Amino acid sequence: MRHLLNILELSVEEIDRLIATADDIMETPAKYENACAGKILATLFFEPSTRTRLSFESAMLGLGGRVLGFSDSSSSSAKKGESVADTIAVASAYADIIAMRHPKEGAPLVASLHSRVPIINGGDGGHWHPTQTLTDLLTIRHEKGRFDGLTVGLCGDLKFGRTVHSLLEALSRYPGVRFVLISPRELELPPVVREECIDKRGIPCKTCRSLEEAMGELDILYMTRIQRERFASEEEYQRLKDSYILTPEKLQAAKADMIVMHPLPRVNEIDVQVDDDPRACYFRQAYYGRYIRMALILMLLAESGAGKGVPDKARPRLPESLLPGGSCQNPHCITTTEQGLEQRFTRTEAGEYRCFYCEHKAE
Ligand code: NCD
Repeated sequence: MRHLLNILELSVEEIDRLIATADDIMETPAKYENACAGKILATLFFEPSTRTRLSFESAMLGLGGRVLGFSDSSSSSAKKGESVADTIAVASAYADIIAMRHPKEGAPLVASLHSRVPIINGGDGGHWHPTQTLTDLLTIRHEKGRFDGLTVGLCGDLKFGRTVHSLLEALSRYPGVRFVLISPRELELPPVVREECIDKRGIPCKTCRSLEEAMGELDILYMTRIQRERFASEEEYQRLKDSYILTPEKLQAAKADMIVMHPLPRVNEIDVQVDDDPRACYFRQAYYGRYIRMALILMLLAESGAGKGVPDKARPRLPESLLPGGSCQNPHCITTTEQGLEQRFTRTEAGEYRCFYCEHKAE
């Protein structure tokens, strides 16, 4: 059975096919209005969301399916201390496909080990957010017509911004891409992301501290929110929260056909006056999210052959190549909260050990 935990689980060709399906749905929605009749999507959101959850629900309803779920962990048994594994084992008996969001990194991976139906990662901590990336790719295809040869500036919270991590992974596969990383020193990309998506692939990359330094050379400016909820200290957040604010004046130095993207919600990193600029495409971006999620639901359901019959919850079998070891040092890792979860590590080609769940380097 196929899940979507990380964007790299989809090949470039599969992404092209999803984009083609999304385009076809936008053009002829009536053709798809009963495509998921009789199917149920569960949206299990242990962390707040507007666009991701609503666009998933709207996507399933637009395909003639039905939806159930919760939008807040306090209204689920997580509040009573239930594990992700148990919640998913139960929910996957009630639904044909699950979209979930969780504050802990690696939670969707744990879910996939216990699920009878496809799991879609709708964001896990500061780790990954593959369906936002699909949304971003559909937007780029529509607005720029291509992925190759683009200079992409990513600005704001590159440390905790999961949308940035997944987008870098996805774009690093296209020829001629260049990245410009614009962040305070404290919010630079996690070393693992930088190594995997940029250094290993030899992608040209520049680091800047100000928007002004980068503006003139960009084809895409991807703005992000400073992720308050992931900071260890409120003081540090207060110090960094206004690091970057895009204004019409700053945009004057940009190319006439540059586009401004943002996964939303914005706090104040884009002045509302920028919304009037035709280069601002973040609300169009949110619109596209529904259609690429429709395409994804269709693909995963077609490939899943979801389990039927009365289930038994056995303990999952982990790949034998995984190594046991001490505990993961990442405070945001699912292993820090999930009871009964056995710690496992992978060994990279360079001989480093990484947590199987959150990919943090082990000391
Ligand atoms: C993003 C997220 O949840 O990571 N939002 C989204 O899914 N559209 C970005 C954010 O919360 O800043």
